[in-house]
Order: sequence, then C-alpha cells, then structure tokens
Amino acid sequence: LKQPIKVTVTGAAGNIGYAFVFFAGQGRLFGQDQPIDLTLLELPNSKRPMMGTVMELDDCAYPLLSNIRTTTSLDEAFVGCQVAVLVGAKPRGPGMERKDLLSENGKIFKAQGEAIDRYADRDCKVLVVGNPANTNCLIVQRYAPSIPKQNFTAMTRLDQNRADSILASKIGVHSRQIRNLIIWGNHSATQVPDASQGIIMNYPQAGMVTAARGAVSNDKWLTTEFVETVAKRGAAIIQMREKSSAASAASAACDHIHDWFIGTQSGQIVSMAVISDGSYGVPEGLCFSYPVTCQNGRWQIVQGLQWDELTKQRIAITTKELVEERDLALQSLAANTK
Ligand code: NAI
Repeated sequence: LKQPIKVTVTGAAGNIGYAFVFFAGQGRLFGQDQPIDLTLLELPNSKRPMMGTVMELDDCAYPLLSNIRTTTSLDEAFVGCQVAVLVGAKPRGPGMERKDLLSENGKIFKAQGEAIDRYADRDCKVLVVGNPANTNCLIVQRYAPSIPKQNFTAMTRLDQNRADSILASKIGVHSRQIRNLIIWGNHSATQVPDASQGIIMNYPQAGMVTAARGAVSNDKWLTTEFVETVAKRGAAIIQMREKSSAASAASAACDHIHDWFIGTQSGQIVSMAVISDGSYGVPEGLCFSYPVTCQNGRWQIVQGLQWDELTKQRIAITTKELVEERDLALQSLAANTK
C-alpha cells in the first residue's frame, strides 16, 4: 500500500468541513488506492463537535483513513502537512463591513500561512475555501514564502460546477457532458463565467461534440442570464435551504484537489484561482481564477484565449475588486503589526 498523504482540514466541524471529511474518507481526493492521514483543526469552542465528527468517521471504518488526529493548536495542525484545506474562516456578522471581514480573515490566514511556512512539508499544496477565498489565499501565500507560489490555490470549482449544472439543465443533458466552461477572477458576485470555450460531449448524439454556443437556441443567453444565474446561485441556495451551500462546496473541493493531483483529461479545462504570474494582464501576485490544465501535480494556465468586449469589461471589474481586497487586507495587517 502507498504511504498515506497527510491532509489537514481547518473548520472541520463546520458545514462544509463536516461533508468534506467523509468525502475524503471515501477516496474522492486521490483515488481508491491512496490512504490518507487526516488532521482536523477547529477553534477551541468547536472542539466537541469536531470530536463527534471523528466518532462518526471512526464508525464509517473507511479503509483509506489510516489515521485521524484532532487539534485546536495551529502549531500542531500543519506538522508535515502535504495538503492543507483551509475551510474555517470568520463569517460576515450583522453590520460587519467588507473591510472588517477582510481584516478579521487577514489575521486568521496570516497566522495559518506562518504555521504552514514553519511546519508543513516543503511541497505542501494549499486549497483555500474560506471566504473571501481569493484574498485569504493571497495572504496565506505571502506569509508562507518558503513554499512554492504555485502551491497556493483558492476554490472557484463550485462556481464552475454550478455553471455546468445550469447549462446542462438548459440544454437537457447531464452535467458530466459539459466541458470547459471557465470562471475568471474572484469567487464573488463579480466572477466571470465564460461559456466561449464550452463544449457538450455526446451531443446531439453519441460520439458528437457541440460548442455550447451552438447548443442553446439563443446564444445571447450565455452572455447574460447564464452569467447572472451562475454568479447568484449561492444566494439562491441560501434562500431555499436557509443555509449556505455545504455538500456541493465540499464536493467541489474534492474535484479541485483530485484534478490537481491526478490530472485533467486530455482537452479538459478546469478553473482554479492561483497566484497570478501576470497572465492575461492580471497584476502579478493576485489570486485570480484562470482556466487551467493539470498534470503531474502541477497546474498550467491555458494561454491565448480571446475575450469579447463584454467579457473584457467584466474581467476589468473583478480584477479591480481583487486589487481593492488585497490592498484593504494588507493595509489592515500592516496596521495591526505597528
Ligand atoms: P461554518 O461556519 O459552518 O463552519 C466554519 C467552521 O470553521 C466553524 O466550525 C468554525 O469553528 C471554524 N473556524 C473558524 N475560524 C477558524 C480558525 N481560525 N481555525 C480553525 N477553524 C476555524 O461555515 P461553512 O458553511 O462550513 O463555510 C466555511 C467557509 O467557506 C465560509 O467562509 C464560507 O463563506 C466559505 N465558502 C466558500 C465557498 C467557495 O466556493 N470558495 C463556497 C461556500 C462557502
């Protein structure tokens, strides 16, 4: 049997964390032949639900979970960690402004970055789920300078999966037939769902591939209603469930890690927020969602795609928002250390 991969999950007793650890136990991250050593980190006041979650994990007797540890200490959570799934974050409270949210989370993710820098495996790969995910990821990366920059990612896979499901139901096919829809920019309402590269496999019949643009009767829908429905899907779910997306977010986190480690299929593009190298004119160092392909545990940005005028304008808006988030978060961290 292979050596277990050490995975740390923060916020493990929360809504998403609770779903994620069971998916991980079932082999959704690295396949059915790869054992996992799981470490769960929670705040001290959520220690009991975390312990309860572990009791349930024990009762599942998942063959792939070789070891489960719990901790409330940042110094213990990341020792030897090879994959860090950062879900725990400060939620937006009543009357809290965006600035306050960025500042509170800045502190959390700075401390986690420092702990990863000090204790984690030198090739530790990081997925940030906790919001504001892109900017939290940027902060973690800045405070873990000894880990390669390309190891820091934030999750926009849920937005991609939502886009797949919304287009699939419009056309009347299964989501798994949809490929290469792209999410650019921030995991927020300014995200830019882009169907220009989208294809539908085995449509209209087995063996055929059709461009998304050719499959909907009115392709203006793809640049208007579709974009809005994807961006507002999270809010629509809260309205119905009276809670935010949890299992679908956990499932998307598994998809993200799986494709990063195992690789994308030939011709398949997925979306991941990564630390920008300046591709597509995005300021270097921002955590920006790009179309990527993955091979041998590495992602690569798909280059050379063209944007139409509307997409260009939308991307300028999401980029501006990310620059503002970065500046606010870094300013408040600098003020805190004075
Ligand atoms: P939740 O509030 O149910 O759970 C969060 C858990 O994190 C709590 O148990 C809390 O005790 C813990 N926590 C908070 N700060 C922590 C810290 N410093 N260290 C360790 N644990 C900590 O929230 P839920 O629904 O699980 O969502 C988690 C985060 O994921 C939120 O920020 C949410 O906005 C975000 N999210 C991101 C999505 C994405 O697509 N990127 C999609 C959906 C949610």
